[in-house]
Amino acid sequence: MKNIGILTGGGDCPGLNAVIRAVYKTLIHEGEYRLIGILDGFDGLIKDNYMELDSRSISGILAKGGTILGTSNKGNPMNYPVEKEDGSIEFKDFSQKMIDTYKKLKLDGIIVIGGDGTLNIAHTLYAKGLLNYVGVPKTIDNDIFDTDMTFGFNTAVQIVTDAIDRIHSTAESHHRIMIVETMGRDAGWIALYAGISGGADIILIPEIPYSMEKIIEKLNKRYNEGRRFSVIVVAEGAKPIGGKVFGKVNKKNLYDRIKLGGIGIKLADEVEKLTDMECRNTILGYIQRGGTPTTYDRMLATRYGCEAARAFIDGQFDKMVALDGNKIVLKAIGEHAGKKRLVESDNQIVKDALSIGISLGI
Ligand code: F6P
Repeated sequence: MKNIGILTGGGDCPGLNAVIRAVYKTLIHEGEYRLIGILDGFDGLIKDNYMELDSRSISGILAKGGTILGTSNKGNPMNYPVEKEDGSIEFKDFSQKMIDTYKKLKLDGIIVIGGDGTLNIAHTLYAKGLLNYVGVPKTIDNDIFDTDMTFGFNTAVQIVTDAIDRIHSTAESHHRIMIVETMGRDAGWIALYAGISGGADIILIPEIPYSMEKIIEKLNKRYNEGRRFSVIVVAEGAKPIGGKVFGKVNKKNLYDRIKLGGIGIKLADEVEKLTDMECRNTILGYIQRGGTPTTYDRMLATRYGCEAARAFIDGQFDKMVALDGNKIVLKAIGEHAGKKRLVESDNQIVKDALSIGISLGI
């Protein structure tokens, strides 16, 4: 009997449970394995918090959003934030505590489902000889290097497209400029895909800083052509040329200082200042991360889970499963750990957006 751990780290996303289920089913099918769910990401190893997964805990989770294992984006075992008596924070190395739990559970390794941050932690721990792991990339932002797609992205894009459709009808009735703010800290994939699919007039993404002048030019052009409404889709990480992202210092999340959100409010104020048009903003926020995964994401998550379990059985550690075209492959994490896949300005989809007259604010 071999013991394999599984954890979900970083922000949640639709499809995490589908991966856990596929890993469990593949392991049971392939031989004598015990699957231990580590709770709340690496936090569970530090705090000795886990549960053994069986057919009952796996039952009915395929279509369920979130993660049955819980998650955390504060649990880097090598750099763990601890609050001191005076309220200040110090960072401690809890690798030994983590290894104690790893050894106590007699784990042969862990299937780590996470974004660039979580996979980077796993890679560093592996490089130090502290654990074995196989990675599964996840994020609604779709910005992990070396995979064509992450599960959760398709669901998020569907949610945003539905929202833009609804915003469109009210924009048209009221002759207003409507702004839809999406997630996308560093990468604008959600805004780009959903903006195109929802027929946005302007799409603003983190990778292409915008000019307010160009935005107003586009809005006026549409107005003068008799189109008295416009829809702007803006990713939360978008910023003006030479300017900064919009957000707050996040005291509770110590690794990721800025809590993004609100760029749409700022834009709406500026549009109203610079034109005679009325402007409203909608922040979609965590709605994009919650709820049941689409069919596409269930399939991708299941394929990732099956391949990750098979890779583990074959001892293919320090690798992650990835989508390459339509094939699931294994990619060495190595020097790519923590690297992001951003929207490049010569990307074909960017060109398509421009071809159909969408302004990218430049
Ligand atoms: O999963 C990535 C993401 O969706 C980013 O686009 C966003 O900035 C972040 O999550 C916010 O997550 P949290 O508030 O959980 O840190």
